[in-house]
Amino acid sequence: MPYFGETGSTLGGVMNRREWIFRGSTGAAGALLVGATAPATLGWPPAARRMPNGTRADPIRLHSNENPFGPPEGAREAMVRAFDESWQYPSESYPALIEQVAATEGVSPDHVFLGAGSHEVLRTAGTAFGIAGGHLIAPFPTYEAFRSYSMDAGGIVERVPLTSTMETDLGGMEGAVTDDTTLVFICNPNNPTGRVVPEHELRAMLSRLDGRTTVLVDEAYHEYVDHPDYSSCVDLVREGHDIIVSRTFSKIFGLAGMRVGFAIAQPATVQRMMAFRNRHSISSVSIAAARAAYQDTEFVRFSREENAAGRRIVYAAAESLGMEYLESQGNYVFIHVGEPVVNFQRRMADRGIRVGRAFAPYTDWARISIGTRDEMNQFASALAKVADEVGQE
Ligand SMILES: Cc1ncc(COP(=O)(O)O)c(C=O)c1O
Repeated sequence: MPYFGETGSTLGGVMNRREWIFRGSTGAAGALLVGATAPATLGWPPAARRMPNGTRADPIRLHSNENPFGPPEGAREAMVRAFDESWQYPSESYPALIEQVAATEGVSPDHVFLGAGSHEVLRTAGTAFGIAGGHLIAPFPTYEAFRSYSMDAGGIVERVPLTSTMETDLGGMEGAVTDDTTLVFICNPNNPTGRVVPEHELRAMLSRLDGRTTVLVDEAYHEYVDHPDYSSCVDLVREGHDIIVSRTFSKIFGLAGMRVGFAIAQPATVQRMMAFRNRHSISSVSIAAARAAYQDTEFVRFSREENAAGRRIVYAAAESLGMEYLESQGNYVFIHVGEPVVNFQRRMADRGIRVGRAFAPYTDWARISIGTRDEMNQFASALAKVADEVGQE
């Protein structure tokens, strides 16, 4: 039975806790253990997931949308080499990454802003456009960092709820734009829902807003997307439109702990954000890692495929239990657990698994990050046990 996705939505019929458990009573946990065989060449678990004593990292981390396969081998080697030069300030490392990003994205270097993770992009943009009471617009729920940084700077952020099918409400957001609006924030795919904004609708909206306000499109999960109705907005920056595209090395490139992200924007916008940056916030070791990871297309391909397999395990687990979920384009899946997330978190923690926090107003939905197949199979088994436990209460 299709849930959310291209084929439509079942959100109208929200089930209560008992219904989803009873509907799922035919699903055996064993049937969910899909594709547990690891590619022999890569070693399993990947070196990054082994603790110094050879055991696996514990508990299983399905709460922060990280890439469990990172960092890529080439990035590890680059970090070790860069370590020898870590007594130097990174001022000479920055231009190399800026040029690499510019060449890869087809813009000139003055279109590139580097930040310590995309958090620094969101902070500098949020500050530059929120300062002194700027009016900003964001979906709700979405990734919250941008909003909180804007508010810290004195901005007023108007939140536009998702539609009844939990899609970004582009019409509602456009309708909220006034002559005072300084920036519109769009997260594509959105976090926590994993849903992308249809390309034609987004581009039509952006062309109507052209010249009225700046738009920031957060593409943190860009490399995971395989939806035919999605495209990045970098080409619109290339054409000279007032759009900021934000990207990160924390997700598919497997470098969340190294803190590297970037924005592609008009040179004047880059300068505006530079005024609020933290000079030398990215270490030379991190820059070396990002440079190596960025060109590792094989690692990206492998991570994308494993992520898609992990998502399928979550879909199968939820379907066998009759739980609603959203088909996702990110490295996480939003599922309707039917009880407050705090309870669900505790039940999962008891089984050695950390899951995402609550995203109001969907406080009985949980965001499950995608780990290795083995971890997702363990999640599937735990989910079945949790469903049984809730059913017996
Ligand atoms: C949509 C989105 N944007 C930005 C970030 C921040 O990532 P980082 O600061 O690690 O680049 C995240 C992290 O989860 C995210 O989900």
